Amino acid sequence: MVQVSGTEGYAEEADELFKQYESIAFADAHRTVLHLIPTMPGRVLDIGSGTGRDAAWFAGRGHSVVAVEPTVAMRLPAMALHPSPRIDWLNDSLPDLALLLSRGETFDLVMLTAVWMHLDQAQRRRAMPNLASLVRARGTIIMKIRHGPVPPGRRMFEVSAEETINLARMQGLHPVLNVRTESSQERNRHAGVSWINLAFVKGKAP
Ligand SMILES: C[S@@+](CC[C@H](N)C(=O)[O-])C[C@H]1O[C@@H](n2cnc3c(N)ncnc32)[C@H](O)[C@@H]1O
Repeated sequence: MVQVSGTEGYAEEADELFKQYESIAFADAHRTVLHLIPTMPGRVLDIGSGTGRDAAWFAGRGHSVVAVEPTVAMRLPAMALHPSPRIDWLNDSLPDLALLLSRGETFDLVMLTAVWMHLDQAQRRRAMPNLASLVRARGTIIMKIRHGPVPPGRRMFEVSAEETINLARMQGLHPVLNVRTESSQERNRHAGVSWINLAFVKGKAP
């Protein structure tokens, strides 16, 4: 079977990553964007959902969630760990999201946490129009992009906020947040890992 590009290294480390990702509280992972998250239950898309930590948080607050995760060794244990009738788990991947797009759904909120930097430049260009078509008018896209040393065995690129904002603007997505934060995990902080937190609203400038 052909490996989805960007997923390199995840299956091999799935056990360790479950412990690591599940030990981070949603509020800590998303501190800088909490004010942008809809309080009323709506439709949420989580792309590169990993262990399902965030999908479960949204489902627990009444949102209906589509969790897209191409790595089987992440998706299946995530489904077992976070069983919820409000989460629809999907085996699909960036940049094309072919299965998801074929369903013709749109979402109030699209989350891409620690996944965009797995795409190369050509893939990022191809993916942005797809993301834009998945968010409803006035809906929000939240992206968290990792910077710093690449863990061994992973496929990761240095992606600037500027490039991402330019690609988004071309699709009618208006930037509402651009904040750089250091890693909340001590080990990563010492290794020089930081994050760019971006958010966009679809439609005319707010
Ligand atoms: C760093 S993990 C983040 C997981 C989760 N979002 C979190 O914050 O805990 C990145 C996830 O993106 C997935 N991924 C990698 N390449 C992808 C692609 N091309 N399309 C969708 N997901 C991808 C990986 O399998 C992995 O589960």
